[in-house]
Order: sequence, then C-alpha cells, then structure tokens
Amino acid sequence: MNAQNQILVALAVASAGSLGFIAAYALRAGSHYEGLAFAVSAAALSYAAAVWARLLPVERVTDPIESYPSPREERQQSSLELETDLAAVTRYKVLRRWLSVAISLFAVSVVVPLRSLGPAPGRALFGTKWRRGDRIAREDGSLIRVNDMNVDSTLTVFPEHAVGDAQSQAVLIRLPVELTPQTGGYIAYSRLCTHAGCPVALYRASVKQLFCPCHQSAFDVTNDGAVVAGPADHALPRLPIAIGEDGFVHATGDFPEPVGPGFWERG
Ligand code: FES
Repeated sequence: MNAQNQILVALAVASAGSLGFIAAYALRAGSHYEGLAFAVSAAALSYAAAVWARLLPVERVTDPIESYPSPREERQQSSLELETDLAAVTRYKVLRRWLSVAISLFAVSVVVPLRSLGPAPGRALFGTKWRRGDRIAREDGSLIRVNDMNVDSTLTVFPEHAVGDAQSQAVLIRLPVELTPQTGGYIAYSRLCTHAGCPVALYRASVKQLFCPCHQSAFDVTNDGAVVAGPADHALPRLPIAIGEDGFVHATGDFPEPVGPGFWERG
C-alpha cells in the first residue's frame, strides 16, 4: 500500500474512532469503551501525521536558465511531469478533506466530555444562604427573641428561609452582656470547623471557647473565633448579627468569608 493510501486508511480509522467515542459517551457505554475508541482515534491520527510528514519534499531544487526553445524530448518530459503533478494535486485534495473530517471529529470528541462538568458553581463556594435581615431560626424553624436564651447557652441556628442548610448552619451563643453589649450578649459563628468541616458542637463556657470533637481544635469566641488549639489554621467565620426592633435576633449579612475548610480561593 502506498503512503497516500496509508494516510487515507489511517484518517478513516481516526474518524471512526472519534465517532465511536462520541457514541460511547452519548450512550454511557462505559469509560473502557470511551478510552479504547479515543486511543484508536489518537493513534490513527498520529500515524497519519507521521506518514504525511515523510511525503513532504526535503530536497533542494535548482532551476537553471535554459536555452530557448527547449529540446522536444525535454518538453514532452515536462508535459508528462505536469500530468503526474495534477493527479497528485487531486489526491492531496482528497487527503486534505479526510484530514479535515478526522481532525473535526477528534476535536468534537475532546470537547463533548466537557458536558460532564455540570453547571458552574458560581458564587456558591464563597457564600451561604444568610442574607441581611434574615431572622435567626432554631432547627425546628422557630425564631429566637432576645430574651429566649440564658447566658452561656448555645443553639444551632439557620436562616429562617433555609432551615437545615448545611453550609449555613451556625452556633449562636449568649455571652455575658458586657462582652457584646451591642447585641445583647449574642454572638454567632459558623458551625463548620475550618480544619475539616466537622460540626463545632461543644462550648466551654468557663474559657469561652468553641471546641471541635473531631481533632480537638478550639476557637476563642471573644476574639473573633481565633484558633487557640488544634490543627485548624484559620478562625471560625463570625456571622454579623443584631437585635431587631421587634426583639428578634437577625443577621445583618452573610459570613464575611467562606465557611468550612479552606479551598483554593482562600488566602
Ligand atoms: S475537623 Fe475540627 S479539628 Fe479537625
């Protein structure tokens, strides 16, 4: 088989491989079929490129000025070469068309799996469902008034419109009022440990620290949730809150930074 036919066959195989990959992906045939089809396509394309590269001229051509007119035999030879070249040009056109088809299908097979990435997360990684004015609710949905909690008690709380939302969960603490007089002694922090996301479930009133039972990180609630012990490397995000004129405790905005363990956008 000459080189041009080898290229044609390789490009046809590459196209079939790409189509096979697209079909396997669309039919959810399994990653082993997808991988096999993609490998066949890539290998056939590589082979076609290698053979094509060998066809490219590498010799240096010189064209001496001839005496005019050329001898008859030379003109006949030139006509013959021209016809041969025209046939070659036609074959190259066919090859180029097949090359376009094979590369287009290969490009489609590379792009199609991007559908599996799903919707972009947008701002979801940066924020929670807390909004300015949201009243603070218990796990059963009931709202909290300023006199509902005793000093040194805690509650797991959520935004009133997103009770149960894991990212938004917070721990509401009532401190002696002199520690946070603007909010009647109330203070709230994200309940997701900044080490590995366990719930920061324990409060030690004697030292005013929240404690994570997973790896024993401790956070100082009187110092913006600063880490005082354990493997966590940054403070618990503090939820901005206020007491409304109606006596309900409410948020004045979302956490000022992402909650839970750090991720790539966090310094
Ligand atoms: S998850 Fe809290 S200390 Fe590790």
